[in-house]
Amino acid sequence: MKNIILIGFMGVGKGSVAREIVKLSDLVALDTDDIIESMENRTIKKIFAQEGEEYFRALERKVALWLQKEVKGTLISTGGGFFKVPNLSKIGTVVYLSAPFETIYNRILAHPNAEKKLRKRPLFQDIEKARKLYDERSVLYKKAADIVIDVSDKDIPEVAKEILKKA
Ligand code: S3P
Repeated sequence: MKNIILIGFMGVGKGSVAREIVKLSDLVALDTDDIIESMENRTIKKIFAQEGEEYFRALERKVALWLQKEVKGTLISTGGGFFKVPNLSKIGTVVYLSAPFETIYNRILAHPNAEKKLRKRPLFQDIEKARKLYDERSVLYKKAADIVIDVSDKDIPEVAKEILKKA
């Protein structure tokens, strides 16, 4: 089986959807941010603060190459900028989780750990900058995707089932 790769903006629910898919299927999941944090033994926030964004993007490209060569039949959730690695489609079937910026932002704010969720994301420190990034990326996410799933009016189990059906 081909890998399934979840892409989409920060906070859209890639991690939660991946955990639900794991519950509903025999799939095992990997997360590119988790891989990078264990490679570096420090958080994404620290990597950005201590080394800068370009260093982090180089790690994403290294992880992408490894996934492409070594990983099969796995569900892969990704950081919001991972989709820009070269040859993304060679890793597996690319599934874009899509929702309007306001929906994503309001969902983060409604979460009991909202402050922590925002604090740990270096590119979500300023709402206007995050909105601009969203606007720049939303077309690119669509272009990179084999399958687009609008998650704005669905709960996590519904999204998970839809992915298992379509991917
Ligand atoms: C990023 C998204 C983050 C993380 C890093 C950069 C981005 O992942 O990879 O902070 O460029 O959108 P999440 O999408 O899981 O927040």
